Amino acid sequence: MFNVRKDPLSVNSELYGIMQGKEVYRFTLQNETLRVEITNLGCSITSIYAPGRNQLQKNIVAGFEDIKDYQNNPHYFGCVLGRYANRIAGGRFILDEKNILLSVNDGVNHLHGGFKGFNKKIWEINNINYFADEVSVEFEYLSRDGEEGYPGNLRIKVKYILNNKNQLCIEYHAETDKATPVNLSNHTYFNLTGFETPIGKDHLLYINALSYTEKNLNNVPTGNILSVADTALDFIIPQKIGRDISRFSNDKGFDQNLILAKHSPGKVILAAQLKEPVSGRTLTIYTDQPAIQLYTANFWDGTVKGYHGGYQQHGAVALETQAFPDSPNHPSFPQTILQPGGHYFSTTI
Ligand code: GLA
Repeated sequence: MFNVRKDPLSVNSELYGIMQGKEVYRFTLQNETLRVEITNLGCSITSIYAPGRNQLQKNIVAGFEDIKDYQNNPHYFGCVLGRYANRIAGGRFILDEKNILLSVNDGVNHLHGGFKGFNKKIWEINNINYFADEVSVEFEYLSRDGEEGYPGNLRIKVKYILNNKNQLCIEYHAETDKATPVNLSNHTYFNLTGFETPIGKDHLLYINALSYTEKNLNNVPTGNILSVADTALDFIIPQKIGRDISRFSNDKGFDQNLILAKHSPGKVILAAQLKEPVSGRTLTIYTDQPAIQLYTANFWDGTVKGYHGGYQQHGAVALETQAFPDSPNHPSFPQTILQPGGHYFSTTI
């Protein structure tokens, strides 16, 4: 469909097949250093090849070689989450005095947009762009009024941009015709060794967070905001992920929402940095979102197989930039309701 190769930046697409009556593609964005592969099924990042010591290229994200595996994708590899990433308690909230009932797909809660969230949809291909300093592909999806229980027709655009500064930028846009909550995120799991050693071994993590949202046994916020000081969630000085990963017996690892310090709406700030000294790779995350969900692949058990074989517990870490979980039920949290005429815009790099 589209093929441009002008060193050092390029964008290519390859038709994978027809699914749900729609064309599914694999796109490859490349600069001198990085190769990023993306599919419009779930708007998912399927691989990121990055050099380490001695220029050794490795795929540093969990993913499937066969795109049709993204139809199932039980651990949400690489995909876009929505309409509301993370949990909404009991799958319900009140909006403009109306009870909104969402699908309940995770125990008693609504998780990551429901049974068939944005991660399972085949997105339209809107635009493929080539410029001297960046290449991009933009996807679009129309989520109908009532989908998974959400009010309003919501039109979402997600653009992946790779530039010549080794930044992969994700830009999210959304517009609605009725008030509705919107919380968009990407669920890529990283292992900077290319999955040679588990995340608990040598990965060091910094998160620009001084506090976190306390949660209850149902995995949703109590409403209390607690300090990370003297807890296993203090990553303000970089720590080995492995240091306290076994402290959370219910979750079997980290699964927490950390609140980004110095966040102000519309401003992109340093959120986190992941370093793996043995392989020599570093990932730095910037965002305008107020929080990050830290999740360490706690329930992987080797049965889901992809690029790196069977994915094992603590094989990788997801650093999901997003709003606080369950915000529609917590007026004190940063608000996530998009109004008709309003425009949702967010960037994560
Ligand atoms: C997020 C959640 C986790 C889990 C994963 C998906 O990270 O916080 O509880 O649902 O997604 O496996």
